[in-house]
Amino acid sequence: MERLKDFLRIPSVSTKPDHVKHMKQCAEWLHWELDNIELDAKVMPTAGHPIVLAKNAHRPDRPTVLIYGHYDVQPPEPLELWTTPPFEPTVRDGAVYARGAADDKGQVWAHVQAIAAWQRQGKTPGDGAGLPINITFLIEGEEEVGSDHLETFIKEHRDELRADIAVISDTNQFAPGVPAVTYGLRGLCYIEVFLTGPDHDLHSGLYGGAVPNPANVLCELLGSLHDQDGRVNLPGFYDEVVPLTAAEREAWRRLPFDEQEFAASLGLAHGSGEAGYSSLERKWARPTLDINGLTSGYQGPGAKTVIPSRASAKVSMRLVANMDPAKIQGIFEQTLRQRCPKNVKIEFKQHGLSGPVLVPIDGITTQLAAEALEIGFGQKPTFMREGGSIPVVGLIKRELGIDTLLIGFGLPDDRIHSPNEKFGLDALHNGTRTAAALYEKLAKLRGG
Ligand code: BES
Ligand code: MN
Ligand code: MN
Repeated sequence: MERLKDFLRIPSVSTKPDHVKHMKQCAEWLHWELDNIELDAKVMPTAGHPIVLAKNAHRPDRPTVLIYGHYDVQPPEPLELWTTPPFEPTVRDGAVYARGAADDKGQVWAHVQAIAAWQRQGKTPGDGAGLPINITFLIEGEEEVGSDHLETFIKEHRDELRADIAVISDTNQFAPGVPAVTYGLRGLCYIEVFLTGPDHDLHSGLYGGAVPNPANVLCELLGSLHDQDGRVNLPGFYDEVVPLTAAEREAWRRLPFDEQEFAASLGLAHGSGEAGYSSLERKWARPTLDINGLTSGYQGPGAKTVIPSRASAKVSMRLVANMDPAKIQGIFEQTLRQRCPKNVKIEFKQHGLSGPVLVPIDGITTQLAAEALEIGFGQKPTFMREGGSIPVVGLIKRELGIDTLLIGFGLPDDRIHSPNEKFGLDALHNGTRTAAALYEKLAKLRGG
C-alpha cells in the first residue's frame, strides 16, 4: 500500500507540457519497481512520453502474455472539489483516493503485486522461475491523450512484443463484488472545430445583424448534429454499425441495473439519449456525439457587448463496431463544411482516433479469465461491454494479431477523470488475486 501511494504521488499528467519531468520520473520509478520483482525492465523513449517494458525470462515451451497498463493520468482539475489533494493519496472508507487510483495505477499495481507473489514462489531464485508463463509487461504514458506514439512503437518492436494473448486491467467490475469480463469497447473520433467570422471582435450594437456571428453559427451547426430521436444527424454515420443482437439485449435486460437509480446517482430526474434503447444499450453498444468543450465571446464577470471574431468547440464521437474512425472524421468535417455559411471560415483539428472493439467470448481464454475472476472475487463474472475507449486494444489486434482479455477491477462510481477518484482496497486485493490466478490458468494454453 505504501508503494502504491508512492506511485500515486507522482503527478504523471500526460497532457500537460510542464509535467514532462514527472512522466520520466514515473517511468523510472516503475523501472525500479519492476527490476525489484526480478523482471528485466527498461524505459524506452518514444517521440512522446516513454514506455516501460519488462519481461521475465521467457521459455519457448510456455505461452506468452502481454500485459498492458498506463501510468499516465488525467489532469486533476478542478482542485477545489477534491476532499484530499489529488497527489496526496489518502485511505478512507476502504478506498485509496488519488488521481490515477483506479485509472490506471491501482490496476497496474494489482498485476505488479501478482507477479511479485509468483516470483517469490520461485524454485531457483534470480531467474524469475516462479511465474508459470512468459510475461511481457508494457506500461505506456500516453493513453489518456490517445496513445499517439504507440502504433509506431508496436510496429518497431513487433518481435519483442509477440504474444499469444493480451491482458488489460483498465475497465470496471459490473458492480461492487460482481466482476466482469468486458468484451466490447467504444472507439473514439475527437475533433475540434474552429470558426472565424469578422477578422476582429466587433461592437455588437454597431455591427450586430449585418455580419455573421461565429458563436451563433457554431450553435446552429452543433444544434444540427442530433435529430428529434436523439440520433446523430450525419449522413452515413450509422452505415457500419453492428446492431445489438436479441440475445445481448435480453442478457443485458437481466443485469441488475436500475434506470431510476442510475439517473438519481448523477443528480438527474431521468437519463436521455437515442430513442428505443436502454441506458446500458446507449452506453455500451450505440454510437454518440457529445460536445466536450465550448468557447467563444466574453467569459468574464458581467456583460460585454461584443460579436466575437472566433468560436470553437471540442466534439467527441464514441464509435461502435464496425465504424471506421477515419471515415467518421471525413463525414463530420464534410457535413459541417457544407452546413457552414460561406462568409464564416471553418477549420478542424483532430485530437485522436481510436477503433471500436468487439472481441469473441466463446474462446478458451475468455473461459480461463472467467475462472480467474471467480477465484479472485468469489463470484462468477458478468459479460459486458463498456462505453469508454482504450486505443491499444485495436492496435494489438491489428499489429500483433491477438485478442485482448479486458478484466478490470474498477467500480462505476470510482469517479475516474473526476475529482475524488478512488480505488477500493477490496478491488485492489481481489484484482491482485484474480491476476495471480489468471497467470496460472493461462499457463494451460500451450506447453507448460
Ligand atoms: N480506462 C479508461 C477507459 C475505460 C474506463 C474503459 C472504464 C472502460 C471502463 C481509459 O483510461 C480512458 O479514459 N480512455 C479514454 C481514451 C481516449 C483519451 C483516447 C476515453 O475513453 O476517453
Ligand atoms: Mn485507463
Ligand atoms: Mn482514463
